[in-house]
Amino acid sequence: MATTLPDLQDWRFTVDFEGIAWAVIDRKGESMNSLGRRPAEELGEIVKAVEEAAMRGEVKGLVLMSGKERSFIAGADIREFESFDTESKIADVVKQTLELFNRIDRLPVIVVAAIHGYCLGGGLELALACDWRIADREEATRLGFPEVKLGIFPGLNGTVRSIQAAGPMDAMTAMLTGRMLRPTAAKAVGLVDQLVPTRHNLRWAARKAVLQKRHSKGAPWWKRLMLKQPLRSMLAKQMRAKTAEKVREEHYPAPFRLIDLFERYGDDPVRMKIAETEMFTPLMASETSRNLRRVFKLSEMLKDEAPKNGFKPLKVHVIGAGTMGGDIAAWCVIQGMQASLQDLDEAQIAKALARAKSLFKRHLRTPLAVETAVARLIADPTGKHVKHADVVIEAIVEKLDVKQTLFHKLEKEVKPGAVLATNTSSLRLEDIAKPLADPGRLVGLHFFNPVAQLPLVEVVRGEQTREEEVRKACAFVTAINKLPLIVKSCAGFLVNRVLAPYMMEAVRRYQQGEPREKIDQAALKFGMPMGPLELMDMVGLDIANHVGDELGLAPKGDNVLGTLVKQGKLGKKTGEGFYVWEEGKPKREEVAYDQAELERLGRALVKPMLDEAERALADHVVATADHVDAGVIFGTGFAPFRGGPLHYRRAQEQAARTAAAA
Ligand code: NAI
Repeated sequence: MATTLPDLQDWRFTVDFEGIAWAVIDRKGESMNSLGRRPAEELGEIVKAVEEAAMRGEVKGLVLMSGKERSFIAGADIREFESFDTESKIADVVKQTLELFNRIDRLPVIVVAAIHGYCLGGGLELALACDWRIADREEATRLGFPEVKLGIFPGLNGTVRSIQAAGPMDAMTAMLTGRMLRPTAAKAVGLVDQLVPTRHNLRWAARKAVLQKRHSKGAPWWKRLMLKQPLRSMLAKQMRAKTAEKVREEHYPAPFRLIDLFERYGDDPVRMKIAETEMFTPLMASETSRNLRRVFKLSEMLKDEAPKNGFKPLKVHVIGAGTMGGDIAAWCVIQGMQASLQDLDEAQIAKALARAKSLFKRHLRTPLAVETAVARLIADPTGKHVKHADVVIEAIVEKLDVKQTLFHKLEKEVKPGAVLATNTSSLRLEDIAKPLADPGRLVGLHFFNPVAQLPLVEVVRGEQTREEEVRKACAFVTAINKLPLIVKSCAGFLVNRVLAPYMMEAVRRYQQGEPREKIDQAALKFGMPMGPLELMDMVGLDIANHVGDELGLAPKGDNVLGTLVKQGKLGKKTGEGFYVWEEGKPKREEVAYDQAELERLGRALVKPMLDEAERALADHVVATADHVDAGVIFGTGFAPFRGGPLHYRRAQEQAARTAAAA
C-alpha cells in the first residue's frame, strides 16, 4: 500500500515499519483543530486506505493524534454551522459524518485515540468511536461535551457511545452540564482508558496499545444497571429536576430532550442512535441554538480585540483594597499572575487578603495551588511594587481630586510600557488624566461586582487615550480570562447605561403597586438570570440609586428607592432592601402568576433596555451592534438564547413584518 497520502492538507498520514498507521490532524492555517468538512473528507480517505490495507493484512492498527499544541480536536467547526440552515442540510452532514465514524468503529484493526489538548464535542465523539483512548495528564488536556451550551446535544452518536463507555450517570452528567473534565476525571468516569504523564509518552503508549490489541471494556456492570427500568426513569426524573433548577425548558430545551432520549431508549443502543439523529436535527436548526452559537462567536470577537503578539503582563499592582480592588487582585492571582495590593488603610488590605484566600479555595484545585496563590498576592501598603508592575490599576474612592493626586504621583513611578488604568465607574477619564504629563496613557478598566463571577471588563477609551494603550489593556483582560469590551468614555459606559433604565422601570412599576415577586418572575420568564429588584438588592440600593442619579434616571420626587436608601435599607448587605434577606436569600411570597401576563410584563420591563441599547449604538459607545449585544449579554446576563438586545429587537421586527405580510 501507499505508506503516505501526500495530498492531505489537514492531516498527515504515514504507516511505519511495524504496520501501524499514524494519522495526525494539524489543520492548515489554524491554531486549533476542529472537525469541519475538509478534515472529515480527508479522514475518510485515511480510513479508506486503512480499510484496504487491513484487508491485505498490511496494517495492525490506526492511531489518531494531533499536531497542535493545545487541541486534539476542539469540536465541530462552528464556522461551517451557518451553512446548515435547514433540517435536511443538517441531516445530510450528520449522516455522512456518522457513516465515517461507524467505519472507524468497524475497522478490523485496533484504532487508538491519543489525546493531548482539548478533546471536545465532535472530537470526543470521534475518540469514542475508537477502540482505545489514551490521554496525557498535561494541563492543556480537557475532555467534554460543551454542546448544551450551544443549544444542542452530541449528535454523532456520542450520547450512545459515552453511556457505553462511562455509564449513564457520568455520561449524562458530562453531557448535561457541558463541563470540561481534566484527564484524571475523564479516566475516573471511563471516558478514557489510559493516562500517560505527558504528550511525549503518547506515541509509545499508542504503539503498545495497538500491538497488545487493547479494547476498551466499557462501563462496568454496576454502572450499566442504571440503564434498566425502573431505575432509568428514576434517574431521568432526578436529572430533569436538577436541570430545571438551572435552566427553563422553554428557554433551553436541549438538555431536556437529551433526558427524554435517554429515558426512552437508554438500554437500546440501536434505536437510541436513530432517535439521537431525529431529535438532534430540529434542535440544531432552532432559533435558540442559532442564537447561542451567535453568543459563542461574540465571545470570540471580544477575545480578538487583544493583539496576538506582544504585551504579556505578569505582574499587577492594585491600589485600593476595597470591594473591587481586593477582588481584582485576587482574580489576577487565580489566573496565574503576581499581584501587589496597596491601600492607605492596612486593615483593608488584611480583609482583602482573607477574602482572597476563600476565593482561592473555591477556584483552585489543590492545597498547594492555594498556598502558591497566597504567596503571589502581596500586601504592599506603601506601593513598593508599583515600579515593577506591568499593569497598575487604581480602585480607590470615587473622588476626582483624590484620584488625580494619586495618578500625578503614579505616572512618575510606573515603568515605561506598563498599563496605567482606573476602575472608575462614573468619573470622566479626561478629568482624571488632567494632571498627567502624558494623558494618552490612561485607560479605564471597568470591572463588575462580583469580579470573580462576571466575565466582562469594559476597557474605556478616553478622548486622549492612545490606541496602543487600549489594545494592551485588552491583552491584559484576555490574559486574566475575561472578555474585553472597548467603550467610549461616557456616563455609564455601555453596561450600566443599558441596565439602569431596566432597573428604574422595575422600580417604577413596583412603586405603582406591581408586586415585587411578579416583577422579578416576569424578568426570569423573559430569560434574565435574576429579577431586577433582587439584583438591585444584591448590588446594593445605594449603588443602584447612585447609578440612576448619575444617568438622570432616578424617579423624581419621593421614590421608593431613595426612601429605602434613606432608611438604611440597602439590600442584601444590610439584611433588607426590596426584600428581607435571611441566610443570604431573599424571603419571597410564593405566588403563581398567569404566564401570559408575566410574558407581557417581562417584555415591558426589558423595553427601556432595548431602547437604550439602540441609543448607545447611535452614540457610538461601542464599535458595532454586535459589540452592543456582546456587552449586554456578558455584562448583564441578558437572556443569551435571545442573541442580544439588538439582535432580539431585529428578530421581533422581522417577525412582525412577516406576520403583516401573511
Ligand atoms: P471601597 O470603598 O470598597 O474601597 C476603596 C478603598 O480605597 C478603601 O479601602 C480605601 O481605604 C482605599 N483608598 C482610598 N483612598 C486611597 C488612596 N489615596 N490610596 C490608597 N488607597 C485608598 O470602594 P470600591 O467599591 O471598591 O470602589 C473602588 C473604585 O471602583 C471606585 O472608583 C468605584 O467607582 C469603582 N467601581 C466600583 C464598583 C462596585 O460595585 N463597588 C463596580 C465598578 C467600579
